[in-house]
Parts: sequence; C-alpha cells; structure tokens
Amino acid sequence: MSKQMLCLPGDGIGPEIMAEALKVLDAAKLRFGLDIEISHGLVGGAAIDQYGVPLSDETLALARNADAILFGSVGGPKWDDQPMANRPEKGLLQLRAELDLFANLRPAILFPQLAEASSLKPELVAGLDILIVRELTGGIYFGEPRGVRTLENGEREGYNTYVYRESEIRRIAKVAFEAARKRGGRLCSVDKSNVLEVTGLWREVVIAESAGYNDVELSHMYVDNAAMQLVRAPKQFDVMVTGNMFGDILSDCAAMLTGSIGMLPSASLNEKNQGMYEPVHGSAPDIAGENKANPLAQILSLAMLLRYSLADGSSLAEAAAAEAIEKAVSEVLDKGYRTGDIASEGCQLVGTAAMGDAVVDCLLNA
Ligand code: IPM
Ligand code: MG
Repeated sequence: MSKQMLCLPGDGIGPEIMAEALKVLDAAKLRFGLDIEISHGLVGGAAIDQYGVPLSDETLALARNADAILFGSVGGPKWDDQPMANRPEKGLLQLRAELDLFANLRPAILFPQLAEASSLKPELVAGLDILIVRELTGGIYFGEPRGVRTLENGEREGYNTYVYRESEIRRIAKVAFEAARKRGGRLCSVDKSNVLEVTGLWREVVIAESAGYNDVELSHMYVDNAAMQLVRAPKQFDVMVTGNMFGDILSDCAAMLTGSIGMLPSASLNEKNQGMYEPVHGSAPDIAGENKANPLAQILSLAMLLRYSLADGSSLAEAAAAEAIEKAVSEVLDKGYRTGDIASEGCQLVGTAAMGDAVVDCLLNA
C-alpha cells in the first residue's frame, strides 16, 4: 500500500522551499522506487486567505490520514492584525495539538563545510552535534487559563499558565533517554526548578525515569545557564530535553551555532510515529518570492520524514533514500554552492531553485 504524505507549504518562503523539496522527492522516488502518494493543503496565512481560518477541517482531516506531513512555514506581516486565536501560527499549534505531536526533535549539526559561517569561533563548533528534544504539546503554550483580563482598577493584565502533568513529562523524558542511548549516551534536562514548581516536578519525574536508563548519564541545568553554556561551550551537550517554551528559545540559539538556521530540519512525532517535519527557520517574509531562500532545511526535513515516519520493517528503500538525500546535500556544499544565508568568500552564490536542482543532480548522479 502506498504511504501517504501531506504537503503543507504555508506562507512566506514556504512554497518556494517546498517546491525544491518536492523536486528532490521526485528524484528519490525515481532512484529508490518509493511508493508515496502526495496530497496538498493550505495552512497558516494562506489558509486564512482562502478559508478564513489558519487550519480548515478538510486540511486537518488530510493530516490525520497522512503517515507524515511535510510542513513549510507560516506567518507574515499580512496577517499581523489577526486576533491571537486566528493567527497563522495557530494553524501550526493546532496541528501539533490535534495530532498529539508531543516529541519535537531538533538536531543542531554543523556541516564541516560551514564552520566559517558560525558566529562562534570554528574550534568551538567544529563537529557540533546536539539534539534538542522539546516537549511540544504542553507547558505554557497550551496551559489554561490564559488571556487578558481587566482588573478592578481598570488596568489590563495578561496571563498564561505553565503546567505539566507527570505523564507528559514522563513520555518526553522517555523519548530523550532513548535518543541519548542511540547517540552519545548523555542527557541534560533543562529546567528552572529554583523558581518554578512545575519544573521542580519536571526534574523529579526525569530523575525517576532515569532508573530505566543506567547507560545514559543524566545531568540537570537551569535554563539561563543552559543558554549561556550553549554559546560558551556547546560541544559539552549531546541530548538536551526541556519543556515547550524553553525548547523554543534554546533551539533557535543552538541552530544559530551551526552558522545557519537555514540548514536545520526538525521532526514532531506522536506515539504512533506519525510525524510532521519542518525546517526550524520561519517564513522569512522579507525574502519571500525572491528565489533567495535556502531550501536545504526543507530538503533535510524530507529526509527525516522518510527515515522516521515512512521507513518500516517491510521497506528499507525510504531509509536508503533519506541517507542519499543527506549525502547529496553534503556534496552540494562540497561543490561550493551557497545560498545567501551561508555564503562565504570563494563559494558560488545560488538561488533557491538552483540549490534544489544541484541536490537533485547529486542524488541522481551518485
Ligand atoms: C517554532 C516556532 C513556533 C513555536 C511558532 C511559529 C508558533 O517558533 O516552531 O519554534 O513557537 O513553536
Ligand atoms: Mg521557535
């Protein structure tokens, strides 16, 4: 039976980089004989323009039925005056919540070819390979009550609620321990347990969970220190696990260490390994439609999708395709092709489409 993939390009540079990922998927299908059926939908601002809401019931139904979703990016100034409940970002948050995509894997890997593009000294980041495991469907992003209320004196007060249940902490901790076990065997749990009760519980539950993982070395760090350590000595980390909001912030920080947020894919998975795959970067409305965006994070998100959600015991072709795509990306960098965000002296500056073509070329002529 063919596997089902839903394609949601979204806004800004989303459609441009998605077009390149789909070119790469076509080439991978050809070379590896993959049987994947692709459907398409609108999300974010594009869906607001068409249906009035950032995620329509039809698109949500398509998402539920898909084995995996390839997501571009959402948002832009055009929809800035939408009420909070109808902003483009809500489409993304709703998909995460509705499909229970609680485990967000955000690797920050430095391609050796790009060591010069990092804002840190090359020796601090050479060989960098961190995985941030971010809880994605709980915490302050979804906690109730939330809102803006008017106090008795007429002053307005905004409020959100930071909540985590033991079961939510336990399941994300498990994902992080399993990942650490398969990688460098070290896990750092990030919290603010010196101030916030909810993250005191977080630490307690993570420690309890560690009993089943004697092979993984567990450490704990307050989030402010973790942010500092990420820019001071990032290679001390292997896997980091944290809640929704801290993970949002730390993953942007880790991404920048690699020289370009335009290179980083991410996966959001539920218990059934159904997943949504998206670049860590946003919709970059300032360069949308100009053939300037770096499509590599979207292309690497496709590779992750093939590996984590479409490969299974009965078919090894998807995993082989994922590896070949990653290799093709590395070869393109070896050849010196660079989009503006990762440009350096002596390299060849190319646009979005030429970068996608170069990856296809390497993939088909390997
Ligand atoms: C991310 C983004 C989203 C988030 C936004 C677009 C809602 O910043 O995926 O990191 O905050 O989770
Ligand atoms: Mg973010």
